[in-house]
Parts: sequence; structure tokens; C-alpha cells
Amino acid sequence: MLVSYNIRNPYIYSCKARTKKRIINNYNRMKSYSFTTLNEFIVARQKEFPYAKGELSSLLHHMSIAAKMVNKKVNKAGLVDVLGESGDVNVQGEDQKILDVFADEQFIAALKASGECCGLVTEENKEQVVFYDEMARDGKYIFCMDPLDGSSNIDVNVSIGTIFSIYRRLSDRGSKAVMDDFLQPGTEQVAAGYIIYGSSTVLVFTTGHGVNGFTLDPSIGEFCLSHSNIKTPENGTLYSINEGNYLRFPDGVKQYIKYCQVMDEKSNRPYSSRYIGSLVADFHRNLFKGGIFIYPETEKDPHGKLRLVYECNPIAYIAEQAGGKATNGKQRILEIKPDSFHQRTPFYTGSRMMVKKVEEFLDLKL
Ligand code: AHG
Ligand code: MN
Ligand code: MN
Repeated sequence: MLVSYNIRNPYIYSCKARTKKRIINNYNRMKSYSFTTLNEFIVARQKEFPYAKGELSSLLHHMSIAAKMVNKKVNKAGLVDVLGESGDVNVQGEDQKILDVFADEQFIAALKASGECCGLVTEENKEQVVFYDEMARDGKYIFCMDPLDGSSNIDVNVSIGTIFSIYRRLSDRGSKAVMDDFLQPGTEQVAAGYIIYGSSTVLVFTTGHGVNGFTLDPSIGEFCLSHSNIKTPENGTLYSINEGNYLRFPDGVKQYIKYCQVMDEKSNRPYSSRYIGSLVADFHRNLFKGGIFIYPETEKDPHGKLRLVYECNPIAYIAEQAGGKATNGKQRILEIKPDSFHQRTPFYTGSRMMVKKVEEFLDLKL
């Protein structure tokens, strides 16, 4: 949006010289203040979808409203009573934090209000959340989300996030959403992304036409385009993995970690180890700097820890759209057909050359 007003306005001409000078100075300052808001961006890009009638734009807009509500609460953590456990346990047996529950409720309410979403899968609900009212039942889209990712970091002011994924429903509009609507492979995503509540709040998303990032400008309450057409480096020097689990890793992963630590000037090794423990934050850093994120299967978690539907699929879509790669060590993440909402998968994602390298060590070149 180019902020401007008509300098030929008769009012300005009628002003005293000093006022006129002030107005013209302001005008000149504002002339150079040009930005694109998230709404302007999604409306402008609507033409990339030949049959779109604005429903996806509206859905993304409503989602961004919930993101602002969550951002507001996250930023007040410590001042208002939102830290700590909610007292409940989610389907994975994890203690829910107050902010996990708050974020879940905000997104569900905003998506229901949009009228474009007929149901959701979320980390915090065992079963799918299906909307029964007439308007929402007519919604064209399914939403899958991790409302608050990295919740162990909430209480200690470390970056956390929201991860989301959007699918077109398979069942007829107007009817109740069915199981198959929620269990589509990641290749069917029409949009996916994440919000990182970090040193600033950034929304990164793709609709399959590249990746763009929007930073929340708190002074105007708008997400503004700050990172257009994000491309991740082909190779990098960061590896992100919880090395505390080293003894439980598959041999290929152990060997890859040793490879990262070897001194080799030509390939810039040893690489640096960086691990926050919030998937969104670890991925976001590696996306820009170049690196690999690994959460493999372990003896304790033979299927890995991260959830396919609302953690790995959206991140994998972003990774691929930015020129990176995402696999489970054997198969492209996006091609896995989920069997259940909370299914887990080993996850290897980031710079293309680094993911290929770890695949060599796993001896399962794709
Ligand atoms: P969530 O807070 O949504 O349950 O996700 C936590 C996940 C993910 O963000 C992170 O990458 C991973 O758990 C960290 O696990 P470890 O503590 O086992 O390393
Ligand atoms: Mn998570
Ligand atoms: Mn979570």
C-alpha cells in the first residue's frame, strides 16, 4: 500500500506557509513508506488459482486474526496469568499448557467464524473438530494445525510457533466433513505455513507458488511483506538434532553426526550444532541460513516424535517450495498417506544437499 494524499488539495493551498511546509514535509516522508499487507498480497495472488472465488483468501485472513490474538497473549506471558500447565493432558499424553489451549481455541473460533472451513485436526484434540452449523458445513477447506509448537519453551521466553496446513475437502460441500477429508497426503495441500513468535512475529506461508514471509508490525497490527520469494541455501553449515538421544539413534544418523563434526576446510566442516527444541524456530533459522533439521526414529520412539499431519507436512511443503527437501529417510514426506490424525514420522528436512547426504548415510538414497 502506498500511503499518500492529494498534495493539490485546496485545503493545503489555503494553509499558512508554515503549516503548508509541515504538510509537504510529512507527505515527502510518507511517499517513501511503501509496504504490502498480507491481505493485499493474498487478494493480488488470488488469480494464481483459476477457480478461486476468494474463499482461501478469507480463510487465511481469519487465520491471521487468530495469530494476532495468540501473539498478543504470548507477548504478555509473565504479566498476565498464562504460564504453566492447564491441568489437562492431550492425546499424546503430554501436559497441556494454558497457552496451548488458548491458541487452540482462538484458531478454532476464527476458522469457524470464517465460514470457509468445515473442520479441523489439531494437536490438542483427539478427534477431528467438525463444524455443524450451516455456514461452516458449506466451507470448502480443511485445516490441520499445531496451535502452539515448542510449548516446553513457553515459560522461558524462547521462540515458539503455530504450524498449519490447508486442504480442499473431498466430501460434498454442505455435508458433514468425513474422515478421508482429514487424511490426505501432503501433496494435496493448497496452502501451508507457520507463524513464529520470536524476536518479531513472522508468518511464512506458501500456496504452491513460492514462499513468502510477513512480519507483524505491532504499530499498525498488520502482517507486512518482509521476505518475498524465500529460497533456502542448497547447502549449509548448521545441523539441528537433539544429540542427548545420540545412543538411541539409527547408525546412519550417528555416522552423519560424526561426519558433521569432522574438520574439512573444503566443505566448511565442522558444522555448527544448533537446537532450540521448537521445530518452527529451528526450521526458520535453517531456512534462511542453510542447514538440516533431524528428528529421527529412536529406540524409545520407533516412529519418531513429530506428527505427520500438522507438523511435518506443512514444514515439508515450505521446505520444498523454498528449494529444500523433506523426507522420513525412506520416502518424501509429502507422499505419505496418513492413517491417523496424530501419526508420527521420522523427519529430515532442510538444505537439499544436506538431506541428500544424510540419506547416503542411511543408505537409502531417494
Ligand atoms: P509441541 O510443543 O507442539 O508438542 O512440539 C514439540 C516438538 C517440536 O517443536 C520440537 O522440535 C520437538 O518437540 C523437540 O523435542 P525434544 O525435546 O525431544 O528434542
Ligand atoms: Mn509441535
Ligand atoms: Mn503443540
